[in-house]
Amino acid sequence: KTNRTFTMIKPDAVANGHIGAILDKITKAGFKIIALKYTALTKEKAGEFYAVHQERGFFNDLVSFMTSGPIVAAILEKENAVADFRTLIGATDPTKADEGTIRNLFAKSIEANAVHGSDSDENAEIEGNFFFNGFERF
Ligand code: CMP
Repeated sequence: KTNRTFTMIKPDAVANGHIGAILDKITKAGFKIIALKYTALTKEKAGEFYAVHQERGFFNDLVSFMTSGPIVAAILEKENAVADFRTLIGATDPTKADEGTIRNLFAKSIEANAVHGSDSDENAEIEGNFFFNGFERF
């Protein structure tokens, strides 16, 4: 069934010049871009986005990292979008990400791991709504 996922190209991948290469891999994998934005998170916004990780030891580092520079946010559509996008990006820890995945190619560490991908249809909806209104979706 065709559905949507949400992604961010994180500050490390933006700073390292990988926006174009990552969007190319995403579109070549068959994802349609529904919404796209070059922006940045404030501390407040990052804390809200990652609220589920609030009690984790890495939370403050994660917020600092995610506000260290601009990001690219996008809503993507494809058959089986959430699961297929997680396959395309690879494991959270890039040392465990399969050969050829976006994190295998572009990520530096478990924190600076190049891209975000929603983990469920429900979170894809919530995360997409966090960045985009109806007029920004095509
Ligand atoms: P993501 O899955 O997009 O969203 C949660 C993020 O927290 C994850 O990517 C990593 O960037 C970060 N993260 C997850 N686990 C760790 C960890 N053990 N140490 C540092 N950062 C982590």
